Formats: sequence, C-alpha cells, structure tokens
Amino acid sequence: MLSGKKVLLGITGSIAAYKAIQILRDLTAEGAEVQVVLTPAACRFVPLLTLQVFSGKPVFSDLFDPHDKVIHLTLSQDAHLILIAPATADFIAKMTAGLADDLLTSLLLSASAPIVVAPAMDIGMWEHPAVQRNIAILREWGVHIIEPETGPLASGKEGKGRLADEKTILEGIVTRLKASDRLKGEVILVTAGPTHEPIDPVRFISNRSSGRMGYALAEAAYQWGAEVILISGPSNLSVPPGVRRISVRTAEEMKKETERHCPAASIVIMAAAVCDFRPKTVSFQKIKKNTGLQSLAIEPTDDILLGLSTIKGKKLFVGFSAETENLAENAKKKLYAKGLDLIVANDVMQEGAGFDSETNVVQLFDKKGKNINIPKMSKQLLAYRILEEILRLKPPA
Ligand SMILES: Cc1cc2nc3c(=O)[nH]c(=O)nc-3n(C[C@H](O)[C@H](O)[C@H](O)COP(=O)(O)O)c2cc1C
Repeated sequence: MLSGKKVLLGITGSIAAYKAIQILRDLTAEGAEVQVVLTPAACRFVPLLTLQVFSGKPVFSDLFDPHDKVIHLTLSQDAHLILIAPATADFIAKMTAGLADDLLTSLLLSASAPIVVAPAMDIGMWEHPAVQRNIAILREWGVHIIEPETGPLASGKEGKGRLADEKTILEGIVTRLKASDRLKGEVILVTAGPTHEPIDPVRFISNRSSGRMGYALAEAAYQWGAEVILISGPSNLSVPPGVRRISVRTAEEMKKETERHCPAASIVIMAAAVCDFRPKTVSFQKIKKNTGLQSLAIEPTDDILLGLSTIKGKKLFVGFSAETENLAENAKKKLYAKGLDLIVANDVMQEGAGFDSETNVVQLFDKKGKNINIPKMSKQLLAYRILEEILRLKPPA
C-alpha cells in the first residue's frame, strides 16, 4: 500500500518509543522507505542498531553531522510524509513554539511534507491545558493528530495518553498517503454538532453531540481535495484547516444555512444531531425559579433533509441515524423515506459509539441494499471509510 512512498519517522523521548520499532516494521512491510530521526532523549529509550536494521538505513539524531553540514534541510527534502510517533509533551510544545534545538525540531521547520503527530504521555500531562492548547495549535496549522488511546499507562494509572495502536497509526498514514485529489472538484456540504433550542435567554433543549464525526468528515474531505462547507451547531472543536465553517445555533438556522448552500454542493453529509423538538414559545426574560415552569410545550422542528429532497437532483445525500433500538430497521426506513444514497447508523447505547465519544461503531446502508458493518474505530479514520463508500456510490462524471 505504501510502495514508492518515503516516510520520515521521528521518534521522541517517551516510554512508548519502543513501539516505534513495530511502526517502522509495519511501514516497511507496506513498502515504504523509512528514514528514522530521533531526538537525543529518544536515543535513551530505543536501540539505534535495531532501527538501523529494520529501516535498512543509517538513523540520525545529531544536528551537527560531519558528512552533511545541512542535514536539517536535506533529510526531509523528499519525504512524502513526516510521522512523529511517539510525540512527547515536550516535543509538541517545541513544535508550537517553532523551536529548533535538535535535528528533529530543526528539520520540521523547513519541511514541506504533511506532518502526522501521535502523542504519548501520562494522563496528567495529556490533560494539562498547555498540552491541549498546543494540540489545538497544531491542528489549526494542518498537522494531523492521531489521538492517544485510553487504557493502562506506564505510571500505573488508567486514562487517556497511551500511544495509539500501531495498526491505527498505520491506517492513518496509509489514508494520508493515498491520492489526495480523490474528491477534487467536489463541493461537500457537511452539517455537524447539536442544535440549541432556546427556552429562555439562558436555557435551551439540546443533546450530547460533540460535532466530532462531522468535523472529522469535513477534515477528511478537505484532505482528499474537496471544497468543504461545514455548517456547525454549537461545538468546542476548532475549524479543520481549509474548511469554511458557518456557525448556527438552532434547527431553524441550520435549515436556513443548509438550504442556502445546498445548491452549490455535489455531496451533502448531514452528520448534525439536529433537535427534533423545540419549545413552542420562548420567554424573552429568564424564567424565575419562584415563578416556576409547570410544563414545557414542545413542537417538532422542520425536517431539514426532507426539505432538501426537492433540490436533490444528482447530488449525493448521506444521512446519519442515531438509534437505541431496531437499528437496521429504523435506519433503512429513514434511508428510503428521505431519498438518501447512504445512511450511517449507530447504536448510541453501545460502548465506544455515538455522541460525545472519540470512537464510533457504525453500520452503513446504501440505496442499492448493501449493508456494511464497520468495527469500532476513531471518528477520524471512520470519516475516510465513509468517504470511500461515498466515492463508490458516486456516478462517474
Ligand atoms: C522513563 C521516562 C519516561 C518518559 N515518558 C514520557 C512520555 O511518555 N511522554 C512524554 O511526553 N514525556 C515522557 N518523558 C519525559 C521526556 O523524556 C522529557 O520531557 C524529554 O525532555 C523529552 O525530550 P524530547 O521531546 O526532545 O524527546 C519520560 C521521561 C522518562 C525519564
């Protein structure tokens, strides 16, 4: 899968550095040519000879190389991708500060290849606001982050911080290195996040959607060359690089913006968890506790997808279906009732699936009757998997 591809593998001083050996082996087994570069701290965690043997090349960590005076400029020159795995909190901070005090940090400053970072650290470090801020900065710069996993940590604690599974990292690299123009020429409209339906100026009805699935789809579609418009309900996520975000709050606003931008789109992916109901009346003043609210009259919100069906034409429509029972039956009903080409259905009661989770477990149903079960995977990877199916369903131009 990676034949002809050159990957620069940067290893930093994490306890998970030994896992880079397996990552190196996986990459070379897929046909990639791998150049390993280590930080001085990483050299204390992994045997250089092992890396040399498995990469079939000398490995580097010294900025002042006697044979190549500008090794910090030459090493990354012809790399198709740079993978930093594992990436320490320290290294991530250096990247965001633009520091260049060793070979790996220096070469990153002049590199033009896409960068993928797989952090690994203890939960306390991962949750520190400085680390979270730095990760957000890297994302804004277009660096692809392969999120750490949750599980037992070297410290004996349990929590998020473990280096992502080697298979997940390999999948991430393969997806990145696959042709990046697969969706070139397409305009993709993605909706994401929840909506807020106000009760009064400070209260609203909503749901637990984080927007992660829609944002991951928007990011992946852009990576594959599409022009992407993301219509997002309230979400804390940062705008994926290259994506145009339009922020909305209510179902009504989402409907209005979706209808406004739909005519220009060739593919519409409705990943938003739009509220099905809203309060019938909205109080202009904050409802006082002592005045009380005996009951809340609600009414259904408009069905956005149904409203768009009149302008569907040759556009490809993808819907989402969050279910707690009879998943296949309910999803298929929605697929046909709304004239969709593909529906992504998940059982939100299942662990690791649905709202506010970093992973998802879904089933895809297409209009031709095909059903695909997709095992638990990160929403980022799942986004590429869904785009694969969209490409399969797209009629040739
Ligand atoms: C045994 C040991 C394990 C460590 N594991 C990690 C780790 O998993 N993640 C991390 O961010 N830092 C870890 N550190 C701290 C880094 O090694 C330290 O911040 C170092 O300066 C990183 O250098 P580098 O970013 O240039 O590779 C560890 C330190 C030690 C002594």
